[in-house]
Amino acid sequence: MTVDELRRAFLAYFEERGHRRIPSSSLIPHGDPTLLFTTAGMVQFKPYFMGLAEPPARRLTSIQRCFRTTDVESVGDATHLTAFEMLGNFSVGDYFKPEAIGWAWEFLTDVLKIDASRLWATVFTTDDEAAALWAKQGLPADRILRYTAEQGNWWGPPGDTGPMGPCSEMHYDWGKTPGCRHCEADTCHPDIGCGRFLEIWNLVFMTYYREEDGSQTDLPAANIDTGAGLERLASVTQGARTLYETDELHRLVAVAERVSGRKYDAEESPEIAFALRAMTEHSRALAFLATDGVLPSNEGRGYVLRRLLRRAIYFGYKIGIREPFLEQMVDAAIDLSHQINPQMLEQREFIKRLARVEEARFLQTLDRGLTLLDEVIVREAGTKRIPGRDAFTLYDTHGLPLELTVEVAQSHGYEVDRAGFDAEMDLQRERSRGDETFTSNNDDRALRYAALGIETAFVGYDGLDARSEVLHLERDGEPVARLDTGETGEVVVRESPMYPEGGGQVGDHGLVVTPTGQFRVRDTQRYGETIVLTGEVERGHIEVSAAAEARVDAVRRSDTARNHTGTHLLHAALRAVLGTHVRQAGSYVGPDRLRFDYTHPEAPTEAEMATVQRMVNVKIRADIRSETFVLGYEEAIERGAIAFFEDRYTDTVRMVEYCDTRGFDPEHMHTSECYSRELCGGTHLHATGEVGMLIVVSDVSIGAGLRRIEAVTGASAERFVEDRAGLVNTLARRFKVPAAEVLGRIDALEESLAAERKRVEEADRRASAGLADDLAARAEQIGGVSVVIARIEAESPDALRGISERLRKLGIAFVFLAANANGRPAFVAAASEDVIARGLRADEVVRAAATLAGGGGGGRPNFAQAGGKDASQIDAAVEVARKAVLERLGG
Ligand code: SER
Repeated sequence: MTVDELRRAFLAYFEERGHRRIPSSSLIPHGDPTLLFTTAGMVQFKPYFMGLAEPPARRLTSIQRCFRTTDVESVGDATHLTAFEMLGNFSVGDYFKPEAIGWAWEFLTDVLKIDASRLWATVFTTDDEAAALWAKQGLPADRILRYTAEQGNWWGPPGDTGPMGPCSEMHYDWGKTPGCRHCEADTCHPDIGCGRFLEIWNLVFMTYYREEDGSQTDLPAANIDTGAGLERLASVTQGARTLYETDELHRLVAVAERVSGRKYDAEESPEIAFALRAMTEHSRALAFLATDGVLPSNEGRGYVLRRLLRRAIYFGYKIGIREPFLEQMVDAAIDLSHQINPQMLEQREFIKRLARVEEARFLQTLDRGLTLLDEVIVREAGTKRIPGRDAFTLYDTHGLPLELTVEVAQSHGYEVDRAGFDAEMDLQRERSRGDETFTSNNDDRALRYAALGIETAFVGYDGLDARSEVLHLERDGEPVARLDTGETGEVVVRESPMYPEGGGQVGDHGLVVTPTGQFRVRDTQRYGETIVLTGEVERGHIEVSAAAEARVDAVRRSDTARNHTGTHLLHAALRAVLGTHVRQAGSYVGPDRLRFDYTHPEAPTEAEMATVQRMVNVKIRADIRSETFVLGYEEAIERGAIAFFEDRYTDTVRMVEYCDTRGFDPEHMHTSECYSRELCGGTHLHATGEVGMLIVVSDVSIGAGLRRIEAVTGASAERFVEDRAGLVNTLARRFKVPAAEVLGRIDALEESLAAERKRVEEADRRASAGLADDLAARAEQIGGVSVVIARIEAESPDALRGISERLRKLGIAFVFLAANANGRPAFVAAASEDVIARGLRADEVVRAAATLAGGGGGGRPNFAQAGGKDASQIDAAVEVARKAVLERLGG
């Protein structure tokens, strides 16, 4: 059974058993700040398990692309992957252990025809029920083991907080491992880790929630979360002892063999096999991550990606590759995996380019790192040991992997202080812990409101006012029955026309008016199903249960809508002009401006940006009517709607369209030529004409492959244009020329300024030369050589230096000059080899003089300069210098 057949068999099996098939979500978890990456199939279902959102069905199944950072260092061995697909079936408060265990067994033994005598199960120490259920399937008691949490039979939470529970695992027995004493004694079991057993299925009985303070509470229902690594399962059905011998990965290994000219042979040359596997895995992971919008950078997700990429290149380097290869491998990875994520095809050129640029950059740092390592090797000739700190700096700053440092060191007969390296690494991990997981109190708040049964309906798409009722009030995070004049707090109403911040769009402002008072809303946020209005009571008081009228600040809302619609038009124009690889990577939509982050490998040219802006404004003038549809997720994606990287599957989605080519035929409401079609929950204009005008204010790089546009619309755009035009008018008046001639005038001024500067420099040079000649003529003879020791007029230390150089050329053996350069003492000295030999050094004389004037400085025996602070000491300093000269030259 091929990997792809396995995918289909799994989904079909669980669909037949009433499971709703859900598409994989992005590797960037949707709205989940507790997680860096999607690490399991259950991540997108967390809100359902927590009772915060209604699931599309109680039984769900998915093939989720996952990414785990924990195993990066092991990648290259037979079993670890960072990026993989996880087969999963889930029950949200529906079936529980009997069905989950029964189906897992049936699928493995009946559908996949895995030899039952090779299967082992583990259950949590106290889980008698699961143990009995496995026994019922016919599994003998000696192959049902009880494992502790430490042994892996407790799963979750993913991140610091979240759902978790005891679990039960299925392991496949490949047969005794030669050399394992437990195997020989017939006492081996999965936790020994000798390579004999492979975990192929995990069933989590998800019933608990870990709070932020570490305590454990019950989830609203008992849930099932199962996960099976696709390639692990395939390796069993295909009899492939490593994941890389399963059909899909194997094809990529073949590409690694081709680009390296090395043969994959795990028995004969395990090191080469390890490197080829690491290259294979990381190339595929790069394709996965970049498609979902992760781009290389020095922090967070981007840093993880960059490390992978460098590790792949290093392993290529290690087995002798000296030419770039990553682009080819990534290309092949996309060929293999695009069926599971068609976005990969759209992004292919972009991802290849990313690989090319990063690889070129790393190859440069790799060279630099190796040079620095050579320097450390010279420096440590005495100890023949590379200090941990240096190894770490080479790794951390220059991207040189420790393995490579060790290898190079060994070839010189050196060792590396690994313990020191590890210590530095631990410190670094401490420092960057914040990158791995973030904590948030959003879930906690959502849970609290859910427990209180407080829910808000958003009614603000069509109207800006709503008659409603006050459901809940809070002051300083504590529920209260009323809020009085002047008090700030939070209000929850049953129906809110106020839009809660989301999808980049800011939360609405507005008013809540009740019979007894008025509350001014200054922010609106969503926690689960609850919309919370923050602000203050500006008149009377507000009470729980009071009838209330909620009114949105209409001007602010429509300014924001202008920027939101403008953002969609801009997004579509960027894709039209720069290419369909352009994806939104973040946005801010406020009443004042919009900010749009997007993926693109290089700075667009001025002409491209001008075309983008022009295209947006054409679409604005075309006054295209908006259409909003609520439809199934799959249908929307099929119709070509653009989803944000972080969008998560929901049963139905809202799709916002601006389609100028729709025509009047209701049959063709969804023509593929639609100009802009996005999944979006935001509030938009009814027609593009209301945007007025869009002006791009700036476009800058904010990371590798990532750019940020700031733009304004409506009245802000008008003001921006007015300001710019006003500026030109002011310039025209100032230069007393028509506006069109301002530039020419500035060019002319610059030219004459340059000519003037040149003239002054020439005059200075001549004056210095004259001064030097005068000084030379008045040189003193001390100890048989010509010496100049003088205080002169000079503008800068550089002028002093020029004069001293000329004096030396004129044959003066020792020069000491001092000047008051714009209020600060400046000194220079220059000495011939001859006087240096007699003990008179320029640096010593300058240091002595400068010290007196409260300064310091330095140089070499033949030339030195210094500054000071106290200009009143210049004359005294000159005398110090003279004394030193007399002493040394014995005059
Ligand atoms: N969440 C569990 C895991 O990741 C089962 O899907 O192993």
